[in-house]
Amino acid sequence: MIISFKEALQDAYRNKYAVGAFNCLSLENVMGAIQAAEELRSPIILQLAEVQFPYSPIALMAPIFIESAKKATVPVAVHLDHGQSFETCAKAIRLGFNSVMIDGSGLPLEENIRVSSAVVRMAKAFDVDVEAELGKVGDTGSGEGEGTGNASTADVFTDVEESARFIRQTGIDALAIAIGNLHGKYIATPRLNIQRLIEIKDRNNIPLVLHGGSGTSEEDFKACIHNGISKINVATAIQLGIAEEMQAYLGTISKPSYIEMKYKMVEATKQVVMKHILLFESNNRV
Ligand code: 13P
Repeated sequence: MIISFKEALQDAYRNKYAVGAFNCLSLENVMGAIQAAEELRSPIILQLAEVQFPYSPIALMAPIFIESAKKATVPVAVHLDHGQSFETCAKAIRLGFNSVMIDGSGLPLEENIRVSSAVVRMAKAFDVDVEAELGKVGDTGSGEGEGTGNASTADVFTDVEESARFIRQTGIDALAIAIGNLHGKYIATPRLNIQRLIEIKDRNNIPLVLHGGSGTSEEDFKACIHNGISKINVATAIQLGIAEEMQAYLGTISKPSYIEMKYKMVEATKQVVMKHILLFESNNRV
């Protein structure tokens, strides 16, 4: 069944777990992610980022996301990840996404507030929820995932006072923060700034979002979900899981079957998603 983003995140926020938001680039990803959620009785978010449109066009992925969400036996939200403009958010809403992220984090604060507020006003007219970002989540530069190319140092962490002003002035439903997290494949396991997370959580009262979930340590995941992170994005881990599975399969067989590969892609996605659902403690919630 389809669930609203806000409803999913608010339950997670109240009960100190996180809903996994999995970037799905194919039918196999969507099938694997939903199978994982159904098996573990977990809510889930299917999402697609604007930088992924060239190889997974949103107009083609939208009906797959929406029909799969409707048929699922667990609550599923359908979310635009990293919308880069008002127009992209409007397009996703027209296609039936029930939540959108406007990523103005590369803009000066006032401009980020302006574009995020405009998206909130438009989205609310269609009963669609909005995530925005403050601070800069960078990119590991690994070429995996869908990063934005920034380094992660203390001066790009989300500022506590700015977060309060940003949330108040924009009216967003969830805020993505930068606390040392990066998109892509980490070279070494990162150490997140949990102290900054706690300060942001204590100063505000809306669900917070962690981007760049792949490769985070179990300890940091737990500290995050117990301190206000209610949504965690995972993309790279799924891509790596499938690539490894394909490499193993192709290495052992002389006449590979495409249908067998499709099954393996679904299964590899399912395994990665199940692992993260368990880490995020969203299992047995529905
Ligand atoms: P990873 O690719 O590092 O898992 O990041 C995913 C993400 O944050 C999508 O917005």
